[in-house]
Amino acid sequence: MNVLMVAAENGALPGGKVGGMGDVIRDLPAALAAKGCRVTVLTPGYQHFSLQPGAQRLVEVVTPFRQGREAVVLWRLADDPRRPGVTQLVLEHPGFAPCGAGRIYCDDPPERPFATDASKFALFCRAVLECLLAGHVSRPDVVHLHDWHSALLALLVRFDPACGKLAGLRYVYTIHNLALQGIRPLDHDESSLRAWYPDLSWDHEAIVDPRYGDCFNPMRAGIRLCDKVHAVSPTYAREIQHSAGEGLQADLREAAGAGRLAGILNGCEYPAAVGRAPGFRRLLRLVQAELARWAEDAPHASHQLARRKVAALLQAQSVRPAPLVTSVGRLTDQKVRLLQAPLSAGRSAIDVLLDRLGPDGLLLMLGSGDPALEQFFTEISARRDNFLFLCGFSEALSEPIYRSGQLFLMPSSFEPCGISQMLAMRAGQPCLVHAVGGLADTVQDGVTGFCFGGDGEQQQLEQLLQRFAEALQLHARHPKQWQALRKRAAAQRFRWDDVARDYMDLLYRQ
Ligand code: GLC
Repeated sequence: MNVLMVAAENGALPGGKVGGMGDVIRDLPAALAAKGCRVTVLTPGYQHFSLQPGAQRLVEVVTPFRQGREAVVLWRLADDPRRPGVTQLVLEHPGFAPCGAGRIYCDDPPERPFATDASKFALFCRAVLECLLAGHVSRPDVVHLHDWHSALLALLVRFDPACGKLAGLRYVYTIHNLALQGIRPLDHDESSLRAWYPDLSWDHEAIVDPRYGDCFNPMRAGIRLCDKVHAVSPTYAREIQHSAGEGLQADLREAAGAGRLAGILNGCEYPAAVGRAPGFRRLLRLVQAELARWAEDAPHASHQLARRKVAALLQAQSVRPAPLVTSVGRLTDQKVRLLQAPLSAGRSAIDVLLDRLGPDGLLLMLGSGDPALEQFFTEISARRDNFLFLCGFSEALSEPIYRSGQLFLMPSSFEPCGISQMLAMRAGQPCLVHAVGGLADTVQDGVTGFCFGGDGEQQQLEQLLQRFAEALQLHARHPKQWQALRKRAAAQRFRWDDVARDYMDLLYRQ
């Protein structure tokens, strides 16, 4: 079976990932290839990937776009011996890096959401279509699109009369995050459907946004126009038909009713041997080295503060926190909104959590993202001794943190799948999670970790704090029970190999 994956991110390439979609596009193709599929991954090159050693320029793809034609170049990247059977292609055009070479997404101002990115992905999708029509990529059996960025391809195939011969292929659409839909005007804007594809006529009903009648919604087009729709966990597949539907719940219910919607949990890689947890002093030394590196690259007030705190921790007599609570992930509203919730007298939920943790414990948080959230956690770190905030992303640190922590915190407001909780469990660290989406599907309350629920933020917050206190108590008072729970967490397996089988059975086969 030939599969063409079209996505905005590809974590197999250096700098090719922003979020969890990049991890999926890194690991899923190899797992499918191991099952006998031939997989081609196609992403924009962002004026970056095509510069890699071994990249080979294949062909210039003349692409109709707006009122003219654009020269988009197809490159094949060097084969990766760790991923046999996977071909990595990128399309390059100066317009694919409007916010600087190597940057995958731009920050469009709130009054013009997605404007720059949507135009970029509109050109990309048109160029992918040209590659398919001209046979520059081998004819796939399945075209697998991911999130709104590549959903325009489904729209083109369906409504462009030149695409007749592509109509017989099978189209699969994966929703990684329904919160980002790429909504743009239908008309009267240079970043609108009419501007990009002036000759296209479309079925208004299939693509118009249900809330903004003069806008089109690529996420909706992907859901309505593809043969199969896939959400990245079974619980999320249910939630998006109701409360988490972000305006598209009716379409998703319809897809489910027609047997077109499937929830399949993402997988995780399991290396043959998991390294040992470094002692706390050693972890601090690693942090110190990384902070020194960051300071050279991009000095940041938060890094100075973290360096002072690490130095103080290294000097203190009793340095082993009891317990070490950890958190690793992107700083977005989705992930940390609950911790940020304002309480009375200038205090936030995280303040109460740190009170419960007590002076002997430490919450170590590694993450970067939204500048306002970075600022928020820097301020908390400045006034709380038992909170150390490392503002950045680093593979060199995340793995030792996963291994050293006693309790991993992931209170996301919603979570389509989530990977950090799987990585923490893999390293032997039980998690405290909000029982939503993929978190509910990976952590069993009281068995492999701790879950909280509740209707509305207030209740969720109360339950989070209560479950946190209970977890700390179990850890402090019942070491045997804690060990057993830890072992059960570490024994969980969410293998890509099983996931790939489900993809083939439930999504790819007719
Ligand atoms: C998005 C979701 C996350 C999921 C990832 C990969 O980043 O927010 O929950 O794990 O996509 O599917």
